[in-house]
Amino acid sequence: MNNLRPVGIIGTGKYVPEKILTNSDLEKMVDTNDEWIVSRTGIKERHIAAPDQATSDLAYEAALKALESAGMTGSDLDLIIVATITPDSSFPSTACILQDKLGAKGAAAFDLSAACSGFVYGLATATSFIQSGMYNNALVIGADCLSRITDYTDRNTCVLFGDGAGAVVVGEVPEGRGFKAFDLGAEGAGGSLLQIEGGGSRLPASAETVENKKHYIYMNGREVFKFAVRVMGTATVEVLRKAGMDRTDVDLFVPHQANVRIIQSAMQRLELPEEKVVVNVDKYANTSAASIPLALVEAAEEGRMKAGDTVLMVGFGGGLTWGASVLVW
Ligand code: ACO
Repeated sequence: MNNLRPVGIIGTGKYVPEKILTNSDLEKMVDTNDEWIVSRTGIKERHIAAPDQATSDLAYEAALKALESAGMTGSDLDLIIVATITPDSSFPSTACILQDKLGAKGAAAFDLSAACSGFVYGLATATSFIQSGMYNNALVIGADCLSRITDYTDRNTCVLFGDGAGAVVVGEVPEGRGFKAFDLGAEGAGGSLLQIEGGGSRLPASAETVENKKHYIYMNGREVFKFAVRVMGTATVEVLRKAGMDRTDVDLFVPHQANVRIIQSAMQRLELPEEKVVVNVDKYANTSAASIPLALVEAAEEGRMKAGDTVLMVGFGGGLTWGASVLVW
């Protein structure tokens, strides 16, 4: 990526819905307890969208803040990518809904489906478009309303998920800054470990699919856990190698917020101290595509990065997929 024009993040914004669902609230809904959830996952609470809020509404709030922080309006954008597995509907895309609401007249807009890795996939896509000279300013959003696809009678999954959105404006940055490398990948053979079976062209919605709970997230937690620990390690090593760096160059590590134990295993592998790692899974739980941008934007708001710092983002998710990036802030 060295001879291409430098592309990085020039604006950030985040949004989580007001309503908070705590572990003690969940104790009243399923056979679980705060001690189990905190010790196995690190999660204490999660935010849940209001009945009249869809993914595009969360994304819109985050996008407005990102545009404001970039000193732009919708009309400055020429590309909008929304990474999500919970679009408002199958089509039009959530990105097109946003394009209209933001007044981004004429901007290209599409959704990207890579589950929890979606935001990093989106960053890589936007960066490629801008480096090639095809576009100048892109809005990349990770947004999900996992509460809409969660079975709140299944204790194996309902304690894990929350709703939110994180947005960034991607554009040209000064020489030496910006994205240095990406490592994206997939293991489609593991797709059935984490999926929603119903509602697509294979198994269209019917009374039977609803009765058999085919519109909710199914997850083989133990297998996904093993995959996560493995690829968080391999993807970080690979992306640092591509960037010509090593673990000692990392100033801030921004991992997907699914489970604090998965984050700790990556920290150990990279030998990173706590102060270099962003953890907010306790407050937001796993928000899928929103997880990494929520962590990144929160870290930026807290002043945890300064110009020139090396930020390593890495995520994994349904697909199965993974995505990692090295960014000089
Ligand atoms: N409360 C109490 N007990 C529970 C709960 C709960 N909420 N959930 C499960 N248990 C029980 C299980 O039933 C099991 O009991 P059993 O031994 O009698 O069968 C026991 O706890 C242990 O279950 P495990 O699955 O072994 O627990 P584990 O320590 O593996 O933790 C977890 C489970 C948290 C799901 C973990 O496997 C995990 O984090 N996996 C990865 C999930 C993930 O990261 N998904 C990301 C992608 S999401 C996306 O892309 C949308």
